[in-house]
Amino acid sequence: MKTAIYPGSFDPITLGHLNIIKRAAVCFDKLIVCVLINSDKHGGLFTPEERADLIRRVVAKLPNVEVDCSATLLAEYARQKKACTLVKGLRAVSDYENELQMALINRKLNPRLETMFLPSSAKYTYVSSSVVKEMARYGADLSDFVPREIIDDVNAKMKSRRDG
Ligand code: PNS
Repeated sequence: MKTAIYPGSFDPITLGHLNIIKRAAVCFDKLIVCVLINSDKHGGLFTPEERADLIRRVVAKLPNVEVDCSATLLAEYARQKKACTLVKGLRAVSDYENELQMALINRKLNPRLETMFLPSSAKYTYVSSSVVKEMARYGADLSDFVPREIIDDVNAKMKSRRDG
């Protein structure tokens, strides 16, 4: 059984992430979408558990996709799950430098772990979770940015942040 992991912060999941999930899911027997901690990113909009719940709702119809969250090192998580592939999406050359470094660190920590890069679909190259949060802050229409199942959640969370 070939298991791959699609790791990320997913705060929140975007249409770009979903596109990568669907394309990766056909390449492996099982794809685990895992919400992990990026220590460079502080003050997230959603908690890791909330992010995983949103992803679960969005991928509910994809039979070989599981959703999890973990506060461990990614390389260790992959070992626990007996996964030997990480899937990463690349939107632009500027993503590559950081992703290459992470791929090398992950393979150093777990020599069986390969990272496969999928180029983002052209129509999603400008989409990121940060852009989604910025748009939501100003009440802009999110339908071209996040799966429709979670639009209300993102708007409600942003409103509760603003009001609270
Ligand atoms: O969506 P992101 O923020 O680019 O995802 C980055 C993420 C969460 C996959 C990365 O920060 C990560 O792997 N975090 C877990 C801790 C870890 O293993 N760090 C890499 C080795 S130092």
